[in-house]
Amino acid sequence: MPSLNEIRSTFLSYFERNGHEVVDSSPLVPRNDPSLMFANSGMVQFKNLFTGVETRDYKRATTSQKCVRAGGKHNDLDNVGYTARHHTFFEMLGNFSFGDYFKEQAIPFAWELLTRDFDIPADKLLVTVYHTDDEAAEIWKKVAGLPDERIIRIPTSDNFWQMGDTGPCGPCTEIFYDHGDHIWGGPPGSPEEDGDRFIEIWNLVFMQYEQFEDGTRRDLAAQSIDTGMGLERIGALLQGKHDNYDTDLMRALIEASANATSTEPDGQGNVHHRVIADHLRSTSFLIADGVMPGNEGRGYVLRRIMRRAMRHAHLLGANDPLMHRLVPALVTQMGAAYPELGRAQALIEETLKLEETRFIQTLDRGLRLLDDELGKLPEGAPLPGEAAFKLYDTYGFPLDLTQDALREKGRSVDVAGFDAAMAEQKAKARAAWSGSGEAKEARIWFEIAEKIAPTEFLGYDTEVAEGQVMALVVDGAAVDAIPEGGEGWMIVNQTPFYGESGGQVGDTGTYLKPEGAGMILDTQKMSGGLFAHKVQPEKAALSVGDALELRVDHNRRAAIRANHSATHLLHEALRQTLGDHVAQKGSLNAPDRLRFDFSHAKALSADELATVETEVNAFIRQNSPVETRIMTPDDARAIGAQALFGEKYGDEVRVVSMGRAPTGKGHDGKTWSIELCGGTHVKQTGDIGLCVVLGDSASSAGVRRVEALTGQAALDHLIAQQNRLHQVAEVLRTAPADVVARVKALVEDKRALENEVATLRRDLALAGPGGAAPEAREVGGVPFFAQVLTGVSGKDLPPLIDEHKARLGSGAVLLIADAGGKAAVAAGVTEDLTDRISAVNLVKAAVAELGGKGGGGRPDMAQGGGKDATNADAAIKAAEAALEG
Ligand code: ALA
Repeated sequence: MPSLNEIRSTFLSYFERNGHEVVDSSPLVPRNDPSLMFANSGMVQFKNLFTGVETRDYKRATTSQKCVRAGGKHNDLDNVGYTARHHTFFEMLGNFSFGDYFKEQAIPFAWELLTRDFDIPADKLLVTVYHTDDEAAEIWKKVAGLPDERIIRIPTSDNFWQMGDTGPCGPCTEIFYDHGDHIWGGPPGSPEEDGDRFIEIWNLVFMQYEQFEDGTRRDLAAQSIDTGMGLERIGALLQGKHDNYDTDLMRALIEASANATSTEPDGQGNVHHRVIADHLRSTSFLIADGVMPGNEGRGYVLRRIMRRAMRHAHLLGANDPLMHRLVPALVTQMGAAYPELGRAQALIEETLKLEETRFIQTLDRGLRLLDDELGKLPEGAPLPGEAAFKLYDTYGFPLDLTQDALREKGRSVDVAGFDAAMAEQKAKARAAWSGSGEAKEARIWFEIAEKIAPTEFLGYDTEVAEGQVMALVVDGAAVDAIPEGGEGWMIVNQTPFYGESGGQVGDTGTYLKPEGAGMILDTQKMSGGLFAHKVQPEKAALSVGDALELRVDHNRRAAIRANHSATHLLHEALRQTLGDHVAQKGSLNAPDRLRFDFSHAKALSADELATVETEVNAFIRQNSPVETRIMTPDDARAIGAQALFGEKYGDEVRVVSMGRAPTGKGHDGKTWSIELCGGTHVKQTGDIGLCVVLGDSASSAGVRRVEALTGQAALDHLIAQQNRLHQVAEVLRTAPADVVARVKALVEDKRALENEVATLRRDLALAGPGGAAPEAREVGGVPFFAQVLTGVSGKDLPPLIDEHKARLGSGAVLLIADAGGKAAVAAGVTEDLTDRISAVNLVKAAVAELGGKGGGGRPDMAQGGGKDATNADAAIKAAEAALEG
C-alpha cells in the first residue's frame, strides 16, 4: 500500500517524465493575488501565466500545492472533524499547461496515471463534462473507451471552474470513483449525488477565458490546462480507505494526539483527534509561511483554527498545552516534502505553546459562562448574540469556536445579535475618540480605520505582493481616485511596504497595474493599523478598487535591513563594553547609515570604539541565522530581551535574536542580542557584510550617539579613506605605510624651523637696521634706547626689552612694533632706576601719540598699543619728554 509521501512522488515523477517542470508549492499567503486570503488551489501561483501577463522558461509544470480553505470564500473550518473529507489544510496535486497542450492531451495523461501508474480499475471510474463540451466527451470516449452513461454532462457551475470573481476560468471535466453499491449515493447530477458512493478525485480545467469584474469574459490568448487532485482523497482511495483521516499520514497524527493525551485514537475522542490532526497541519504550515496569530485578517483565521483545536484538546482532558508536542510527529511525516516545516519547527512550537498557555487561562471560565447562559435559556433556544460577544470580547472565543461548542449540544448562536454587539462596541470607541480633538489629518485615518481592516504587512517574507486599493486620501480628505501626475496617500488591504516605526524608515518603491504605474515615495503607519503609502500616479489615474503589484525598492530595503540588524549587534557590543547602564534612547535605520543613541555619560575612547567595532564585525563574520519569535512581553523580558523603557507593548511582542555568544556572554548566556523589535532584518548576520563605526558624539545630557555604516556604504567609506591616504602619500613622496613617520618628521622639522626663524628675527631686531646695534642716548640723565621694529608682534617685545636692559646695564628702553599699521609698544627700566622712572609712564606717553589709550604694567616693564604706527617718531619723542620730566 503506497504511503501519501509515495503517492505524491509518483504523481510528480509521472508528469516530470512527461516533460513537466516540478515546481515547489508556493507559500500559503499568495504573493500575486490581493483578493485571496490563502492559496486554495494549485493554479494560484500560475495565475499570470494563464492570462499571458507573465512567461517562464517552461510551458508545462507539476506541483503539490499547500492549500488552506478556512476563512474567505472557500471555508471548510466548521465541518472539519465531523466529515470524511473536509480539511482546513490539504495538498493539491496538479499538472499545468501554459498554452502548450490542451484537452486532447490532458485527458490521456490523467487516464494513464490513474489506470496504469496508480492501477485503479477502469470500470470504477466515471467522468463529468460541461454540458456543451462535446469535444471533451469525445476524447473520453476515444481515450478511455467509457460508455456514454459514464460520461455525464453537467450544466451547472460544478463543471465550470473559476478561481474567484475574476481571473482565468473555463469548463472542466471531473473524474469520479465509485466506491460500490454498499455505500449510499448516486452519480453526479443525480438527486443522490451528495451521498458518499461516488467521490470526485480529480478536476481537469480547460482554461479558456478570463473573467472580469463587470461580468464580461474574453478568450485567453492561449488555451491552457489546470488540474487539481486532493492528495488525501487519492491517498484514501489507493489505501483502500473511505475516509481521508484513515490514510497513513493523517492516522500518524491522530495517533500522536491519542498518545499525548493517553486516550484512544478511535471511539469517543475520535472527532477531537481529527480536528487536532487537521488543525495541527494548517496552523503549522501557516506559521511556517509567516502568518502569526492576531486579531485581524489572516492572523485571526490562524487564531481561530488554533483555538478550535485547543478546545478539542481540552475536551480530551488535556489541561496543559498539547498542540506544540505534536509538531515533531508532523515534521516526521511531512518535513521531507516541505523543508520549510523543519526550518520553522522551533517557531511553530513556541507560537502554539504561547497561544495555548494563554487561552487555557480563559477557556474554563468562558465555558462555564457558556453553560450558565445556556442554563437560563429554554431547551434548544439559540445563544443570544450578546453572550457570544462577551465570550469573544472577554474570553477570546471566536464566534466559530462558540458555534462549534454549541454544535455538540444541537444549538446555534444568534449571529445577527453578535454582529450588532460588535458594531455597538465600535461605535463607542468612535464616540470616545471624537472628544480628543486631533488634527484633521489624523481624523481621516481614524474614519477610514472604522470602515476597513488594518493593513496586513507581508514584508517580513516578501518584497513584492499584490494589494487592493481600499482608500485614497488627498489633503486630508478621502477621494475615489488620484489623477495621473497627482499625489496623495493610499491604503491597500495588504502590503510588502514597511511603515516607518521603531527607528526604521518607511519603504519606497513602485506599483504596477495592467495599464498604469506610479511611485511610492514613503510609507507611514496611521491609526487603526493602516499603512499609508505616499503615491504619485505616473501613468493612468489610481482608483479605489484597483489591484496593484507593489514592489519595494529592493536595494534600499536590503541596505535598511543591514543597518537595522547592525544596530542590534552594536547595541549589545556597547552594553558589553561599557556596562549594563547602556540603554537605547533612540535610533535611525536609514538606507545610507545608522545612528544609535544610548545612555552613557562620557565620550568613548578610541579603544572602546575599536572594541565595539571589532565585536560587531566578528558577529557579522559568524554569519549565524537571525531568529524571530512572538512572545508575551513578560516571557520576552524573562529571556532578557532588550525593550524600550516606557514603551507600551501589546499582548504579544516580536522578539529578534542574533549571534551565538561566547559562553557566559550575551543575554541568556548563549544568544548575543535579543531585542523586542518590529523591524525587518537580514536572514544571516553575514548579510550585513561589514560595519564601520564613524564615531561618537554627544546627543544630549548623558546620551551619546554612535553613527555607523554597513555593507556597500561602509566599503565606499573605507575606499574613500584609502584614496585620501594614497594622495597624502603621493604628496609626501612616500609609501602609505610610512605616512605617519613622515608626517611626524615633518611636524618636528616645522617646529625646529619656527624656532630658528624666531631666533633670527630676534637677532635681527637686536641688531637694528643695517646690522649694527644702535646706540643708546642720554636723555634726562639716563641712557635711553628707542627703536621701531617691523616683522615682530607685541608678544615678541618683552624678551627684547629684557635683552636691551641687560645690554645697557642701567637705563630705559622703548620698543615700538609696527604690525601692519597697528602699533604695539613696550618700555623697560633697569632696576636701579625704577625709583625714579616708571616704564608705565613711558608707555603711556608713547601710546597717546599712537592713537591708543592707557598702557600698563610694572615700573620695570610695561606694555600698550595704538592704532597708528606711522606716528612712531612722535611717540619716541613723547617718551623722551616724559624721561626729561
Ligand atoms: N483549480 C482546479 C481546482 O481547484 C483544478 O479544482
